[in-house]
Amino acid sequence: MRITEVANYTSMSEKAEKIILREVRERPLIMALPTGSTPEMLYSMLVEEYKRGKVNFSEVVTFNLDEYVGLSPANPNSYHYYMNERFLKHVNVSESYIPDGMAQDLEKECADYENKIKREGGIDLAILGIGGNGHIAFNEPGTSFESRTHVVKLSADTLKENSRFGEMPNRAITMGIGTLMCARKIILLASGKKKARALKMMMGAITEEVPASVLQKHSDCKIIADGEALRFF
Ligand code: PGA
Repeated sequence: MRITEVANYTSMSEKAEKIILREVRERPLIMALPTGSTPEMLYSMLVEEYKRGKVNFSEVVTFNLDEYVGLSPANPNSYHYYMNERFLKHVNVSESYIPDGMAQDLEKECADYENKIKREGGIDLAILGIGGNGHIAFNEPGTSFESRTHVVKLSADTLKENSRFGEMPNRAITMGIGTLMCARKIILLASGKKKARALKMMMGAITEEVPASVLQKHSDCKIIADGEALRFF
């Protein structure tokens, strides 16, 4: 795992943008994409670049990392809504997949999502944020490192963190840790001192109690973080 320290949130976003643009220009790309506050500027930079005619996403397929259970795509708190508003509706990605949190049969939806990832050829590049408790996607502490896409009950920590967006459902569909670890390349983004504890935990013992710690075992994982997020290093 390599760590790239940058000055601040803007330079973190610029660095991630540069890597994504390089990958998109080089080859057809299957990406796993996060939601949340961390990638907001990154998405607006990618959209700007597209509008300026500098990048073409027509050979890019995207898979969302996760989605809440019970929120329709029209709900502004859903990750469908987030992705459409911030990225997908502005660019020309060839296909975008997001788990259906409204599915009648959630187990089947999870299995289907895994199959779609397989059918597309697997994830080339996964962009991740990190939760204050060390979660990646919505894989909470205690999740098996072998897990594939599954339904998760969100922890009290996560519900509290996400309450800044209003009252959120307490269940979600998330790619599993095993799913993420199959990505050929992983980039984890972190900015601000509220991420410092999680980054420190992540670099400590590799344990299912700290989901992000598994990334130490990945052969091509890069952390791009600012000085505040890396203050314990
Ligand atoms: P954030 O969330 O980007 O909104 O801080 C990250 C996460 O919980 O994975």
